[in-house]
Amino acid sequence: MTRSDEIISVRNIYKVFGSQADTAMALVRAGASKAEVFEQTGQVIGVFDASFSVMRGEIFVIMGLSGSGKSTMVRLFNRLIEPTAGAIFLNGREITGLNDKDLLQVRRKDMGMVFQSFALMPHMTVLENVGFGLQISGVAEKERNSRSITALRQVGLAGQEYCYPHQLSGGMQQRVGLARALANDPAILLMDEAFSALDPLIRHEMQGELIKLQQQQDRTIIFISHDIEEAVRIGHRIAIMEGGRVVQIGTPRELLCNPANDYVRTFFNGFDSSRILKAGDIAQRDAQIVYMPGRETPITADTPIKDIFGTVARASAPVPVVDAAGAYQGCISQGRLLSYLGGH
Ligand SMILES: Nc1ncnc2c1ncn2[C@@H]1O[C@H](COP(=O)(O)OP(=O)(O)OP(=O)(O)O)[C@@H](O)[C@H]1O
Ligand SMILES: [Mg+2]
Repeated sequence: MTRSDEIISVRNIYKVFGSQADTAMALVRAGASKAEVFEQTGQVIGVFDASFSVMRGEIFVIMGLSGSGKSTMVRLFNRLIEPTAGAIFLNGREITGLNDKDLLQVRRKDMGMVFQSFALMPHMTVLENVGFGLQISGVAEKERNSRSITALRQVGLAGQEYCYPHQLSGGMQQRVGLARALANDPAILLMDEAFSALDPLIRHEMQGELIKLQQQQDRTIIFISHDIEEAVRIGHRIAIMEGGRVVQIGTPRELLCNPANDYVRTFFNGFDSSRILKAGDIAQRDAQIVYMPGRETPITADTPIKDIFGTVARASAPVPVVDAAGAYQGCISQGRLLSYLGGH
């Protein structure tokens, strides 16, 4: 059973790269780690016992160091890579069991993919590149062109239809890649480091476009990134991968406030946590302090901490924090607030 708001559900997925997958899986089932399996068999485990769900309409970011299994994971979703064990459900239907014909339908209708490299055909115009997937699916030229023009408009490339890729900047080429995926109008967009090759300004702009598109169309987006700034900006939830495993999934605030391990914590090194934390996240209980309702003006727990600097700076004592119902949560001293500025 899967829940109706789950669009993808991943259950105990493993991917072993190598010719002795069975031997590797037997070792895994006997309790061996990824490193032990590699040592004993030379088999590389790309994804190790991953289980999680992606919700309809969310931007789900997958982060992790190079080689942690991010690309393998998203390629398992559309079965560009076949899992060694486990199951993946799309809208409650097991895609790991689909025949070739049904799988092709899923790839055409349900999932679009945008890669890091633009992968445009140099001899085709922008319009032809965007319509290429539709052409393969047998969509007639008139409809193909109209859907491609709509997609180009969505990514801010109206008027560039008859250019060739070499006439466009890198950022524009990446937009063409995005338009090509959008032209299919897939329910799920898989984006593997799609913005990593772009320079910072264009990248920022593309992130903004993506957020806007997702708000307008309520698409589910699965986005791989190396960059915590990008992940926090666009992600509703972030999954952190380490050595093939998904070590933690949560909202940026959840990961920042309660990192599962040092590996997760490291991603936030140098990150300005005041951008996402709220007063309730940093309030501390202090046995010495007794909160007197009515006498002090409290801060509500959901106030962004960037909005409380003045209040805390002017206060002669730690400022009390209360939840929506007025219940005391703890207090924030000037020292406590300072320790959260500019990365902690
Ligand atoms: N086709 C393959 N054959 C053998 N091993 C592979 C193959 N594809 C990936 N791997 C291995 O699986 C592991 C996960 O690779 P993957 O490409 O998923 O990592 P990634 O997190 O996407 O890394 P990056 O950030 O560098 O793109 C790595 O150890 C990699 O060497
Ligand atoms: Mg990758």
